[in-house]
This record gives sequence, structure tokens and C-alpha cells, in this order.
Amino acid sequence: MTRIAIIGGTGLTRLPDFSIVRRAVVSTPYGTPSADLVYGRFHGQDVVFLARHGDPHTIPPHKVNYRANLSALKQVGIERVVAVAAVGGIRADMGPGVLTVPDQIIDYSYGRAHTFFEDGLEHVTHIDFTRPYNETLRQKLLGAAQATGIPMVDGGTYGCTQGPRLETAAEIARMERDGCALVGMTGMPEAALAREAGLDYACCAVVANWAAGKVEGEITLADIEANLQRGMADLAVVLKRFISG
Ligand code: HPA
Repeated sequence: MTRIAIIGGTGLTRLPDFSIVRRAVVSTPYGTPSADLVYGRFHGQDVVFLARHGDPHTIPPHKVNYRANLSALKQVGIERVVAVAAVGGIRADMGPGVLTVPDQIIDYSYGRAHTFFEDGLEHVTHIDFTRPYNETLRQKLLGAAQATGIPMVDGGTYGCTQGPRLETAAEIARMERDGCALVGMTGMPEAALAREAGLDYACCAVVANWAAGKVEGEITLADIEANLQRGMADLAVVLKRFISG
């Protein structure tokens, strides 16, 4: 049984070097996942791939059915999830193209269906979320990067905004004061739902742009796409090592 899943984000709707074996349409009590679960071989290992924003990429971050996505992965027996995410860089070492494995989260999103534990409960459940990412998986990702020689920043707080608009300069300044190193729109409730589902979960973030107000001028989609292409190519090398190592 396939135990590991990769959730691909913006810039990773399809996994390079992934030989697809089959697609599974999974329905869950929370609705339909963003896309079919794609089963295949990735550098010698069985892997399930899920495109967070759909394939093609049409579902904005606040409309992703995170519960259906995580529930579907759990249902088919997945135990470990590597979530790939495009982010904006806030901290000085988080420039465009940088790869990083965050270790903390602040959730600024709102109105998202964010828990499995709300209806028909036998008892109220509060998961521990002190360390939102699985440390073993984090270290394995960092180790894979080190083995390839591709720099990957260890740790940093991921601030999750609601989107789909990018942030104001003042919002980023506040997030910086809060201690955020990165800003993205999909980190939550995905990470919390993974914990609730008992899945080991870590995030590989690729910095697509300097966050709002960090440099002069507008943030353009063209810049984001160019930086992402570079970062995702590096990440593919790290993931290859991670999976095969
Ligand atoms: N803000 C939020 N999410 C993002 C950004 C950003 O600047 N870049 C890529 N995802």
C-alpha cells in the first residue's frame, strides 16, 4: 500500500518524473478532493500525488476543500504527507528561489472549514499543535537537501493569510513583528487537519517573491512564476533524494 503522499501547490500541479499508474476518484464525508489521487512511481517508490488547487490549477486557496483532501489521503492509507507550497518571503534570508522547511505557523486565515472534530462528536477533541509539523519528516527533508547540496533553510514561521489577494505592506509589517518568516495562503487548515487525521505532515516551501513592501514596486505574476520555476526545479531534486533515500 502506498504510504506517502505529496500535495503539490502553485507551480507543482504535476510532479516531474512521476510515472502515473492509476487515478483514484475518492469521495469523502466532507466532499470531493481538489483532484483525483494520482498513484504512481516516483524515483523507485510508490507515491500518491494530489494537486491542491486542482488539475488544471483552478481552485483558489480559500476555496480548497482541505478536509476532503486530507480525509481522502487518510482513507486510502496514507501515513506521511509532504506538502509543497509557494510562499512570499518576509525574513531577510527568504529571498525569491529559496527553499525552506518551516517549523511554526501563525494562522491569519478565516472562514475555512478547519476541523474534522465538530459534528456528531462523542467527546470534544483538542489536538496538541505546539509543533505543527512532524519533526522526523522535517529533518528527513533537510537531510535530503543537504545530500544534494541544494540549500534549504531550516525553520521559520509560516503565516497563513486568507487570499486570494496578496497582502498589504502593513499586513506584512505586522506579520514580521509577529515573527513570521514566510507568508502563504494554504498552510492552514491543511497542517492542522493532517494532525487531526493522525498523518505525519511537513511542508516544503518555495519562495516565489519578496512579500508586499519588502522591495519597491508591485509583485507581478510573471516574477512569481519565473522564481517558482527555478525553485520548483531545485525542489524536484530534493524530493527525488528524499523519496529514494
Ligand atoms: N503572499 C501570500 N501567498 C503567497 C505569496 C505572497 O506574497 N507568494 C506566494 N504565495
